[in-house]
Amino acid sequence: MTSPIRTERHDDVLVIVSNNPPVNALGAAVRSGLEAGIKEGVADASIKAMVIRCDGRTFFAGADITEFGKPMQGPGLGTVIDMIEASDKPVVAAIHGTALGGGCEVTLGCHYRVAVPSAKIGTPEVKLGLLPGAGGTQRIPRIAGVKLALQMTATGDPISAKAAHEAGLIDRIVGEDSLEADAIAFAREVADTRPLPRASEKTAAADPAAVEEFKKANARKFRGFDAPAANIRCVEASTTGTFADGIAIERDEFMKLMMGTQSAAQRYMFFAERQAAKVDDIPADTQLRKIAKVGVVGAGTMGGGISMNFLSAGIPVTIVETAQEALDRGVGVIRKNYENSAKKGRFTQEKVEAMMGILIPTLDLNDLADCDLIIEAIYENMDVKKELFGKLDGIAKQGAILASNTSYLNVNEMADVTSRPGDVIGMHFFSPANVMKLLEVVRGAKTAPDVLATVMALAKPIGKVAVVSGVCPGFIGNRMLSQRGGPANTMLMQGVPPERIDKALTDFGMPMGVYQMSDLAGVDIGWHRDPNRIETIRDALAAKGRWGQKTKKGWYDYDENRNPSPSPEVAEIIEEFRSKSNQARRDYTDDEIIGALLYPMVNEGAKILDEGMAQRASDIDVVWIYGYGWPVYRGGPMFWANTVGLDKVVAGLEKNGVPVAPLLKRKAEAGEKF
Ligand code: 3HC
Repeated sequence: MTSPIRTERHDDVLVIVSNNPPVNALGAAVRSGLEAGIKEGVADASIKAMVIRCDGRTFFAGADITEFGKPMQGPGLGTVIDMIEASDKPVVAAIHGTALGGGCEVTLGCHYRVAVPSAKIGTPEVKLGLLPGAGGTQRIPRIAGVKLALQMTATGDPISAKAAHEAGLIDRIVGEDSLEADAIAFAREVADTRPLPRASEKTAAADPAAVEEFKKANARKFRGFDAPAANIRCVEASTTGTFADGIAIERDEFMKLMMGTQSAAQRYMFFAERQAAKVDDIPADTQLRKIAKVGVVGAGTMGGGISMNFLSAGIPVTIVETAQEALDRGVGVIRKNYENSAKKGRFTQEKVEAMMGILIPTLDLNDLADCDLIIEAIYENMDVKKELFGKLDGIAKQGAILASNTSYLNVNEMADVTSRPGDVIGMHFFSPANVMKLLEVVRGAKTAPDVLATVMALAKPIGKVAVVSGVCPGFIGNRMLSQRGGPANTMLMQGVPPERIDKALTDFGMPMGVYQMSDLAGVDIGWHRDPNRIETIRDALAAKGRWGQKTKKGWYDYDENRNPSPSPEVAEIIEEFRSKSNQARRDYTDDEIIGALLYPMVNEGAKILDEGMAQRASDIDVVWIYGYGWPVYRGGPMFWANTVGLDKVVAGLEKNGVPVAPLLKRKAEAGEKF
């Protein structure tokens, strides 16, 4: 097998080049090749300096994640980096694209670093539940200080070449198109410099105030995760002992994380997210339709949020409403959202104007005639939607894609009122649509393959993660979500207060509980149709004006700052219903609450999978992580069920009298996982 690493001699400079597509991951062959390249440069008396660079779209994007959990082949990355640093001839890293994780650590082992202006450098290991385990936690603070090291390692967000240059992580910014030549020239400039700058020989100054401030600022973000604290501990260790001491702590913390469930879950999600983009029966080279102009029908909360995704990506949007007032309000909200982001420094006011400049508000559906994709985001009513699809069929140009943002209605029925059902698809955005990353793409019975492929490919430029769902009520996400309302109500009837049910879910890591979510969405949803009906606790709350956050009372009482507190009135109403029912009181542990609420969702996930409504279990997990804020460190409901044990899930369902899905039962009996 040929090595992905080759060496090229440029007089007295040896250039060590990696060519390991797609992202130059530092697999065994790359590590061995790097080791051989450095040895060659060190041994050759005619070589005065070395440059490490990569072919293709990026510098090393990190360790090869597919090797994790398998026996180590060839030299370890830490060993290779130490060897680079120990070289008695200068080694220069020439960075383009992204130098991430182990890739960033390779650059830190080099004596010097040059980068093109567009390059980024970072240590995203924390997003895989890990830490930079090849010396990164020790070398970054020694070169650039504790503050930046905390930021880079514990948040995992990369920094620009410019920021890295200012922090001393990059020695020189070189020409965008002349990286190799400039790196070689730099190597010659430093060829005779001695002593060579070695990060491991520097010291990092302790900064306890910075550590405390960082922890405080990120407490919410890090809640539930193991890896950020481990990264922080390692960075702190860089200030208290020798480099070797720090490396020992880093190794120990890295191994603990690597063996844990959280990292397994987060690494699984890395691949699950990328896998979700692939539709098994559609060839990767399917010719895509061009989407240069988008139409959105409805300027309400959803329509506005959906439009923002395209505007932010520079794609013009024509937005349609039925009344001027609603149109103005919708456009006003979009502007306000953008301006708030600009105030927070996310982008400039010019950018706001540029995005608003490509938004075309109109009251005339006929203005959608030149759109390549039209998404309806109107009232959830089949008759109204069908009427609209009929009209759009008469207006849209040939080849335009017609999409519905419905969250549970049958997309096939909408397709069938048009003369072009192959062009119809569901694009289910999650609220707030400009923020939530999930896009459930609903594949109708007649949706054409190129329509599906086009919409799947469109997700990336608009910052979404797309998952394909078949047509079924509620699709993947809401169909599973609907399973937890019943058990939650049963627990209420058995005397478990709503705040305890919610707390069990938030302690588990969900962003909010069942009743907090109901208060946010509106307790009165569906109640107005028949305000005299008081059949459920929910009806009773709505009848008392307890409509949720919007009326400052719902399942909870809310203060001016929307802080919830348990409501005595709600407790009374529940008790009234409870005493009329013949449910016996039952105590639940937190684990039992979780089992009662989440096992039925897993059960429904198994049905969805069995029916072919989801392509794979990992797609279901992606839906829950990106659409509902399921804690990524638990890897989504199906992955989580595997970690619990499917036999235990089955036993829990049976105990609560829930019929077990055949696929779940089969897998549990066979000792298999999803
Ligand atoms: N290992 C193995 N495969 C990787 C990989 C890695 N580090 N990074 C990316 N890939 C694979 C992806 O799975 C994908 O495969 P597919 O085409 O079969 O689906 C392919 O490379 C292309 O990746 P993307 O679709 O993500 O390509 P983009 O151009 O959108 O993004 C990227 C490129 C920014 C480099 C992104 O892939 C990325 O963020 N990669 C992971 C970076 C990372 O986490 N590095 C740290 C690794 S852990 C580590 O280094 C430990 C060390 O400290 C000891």
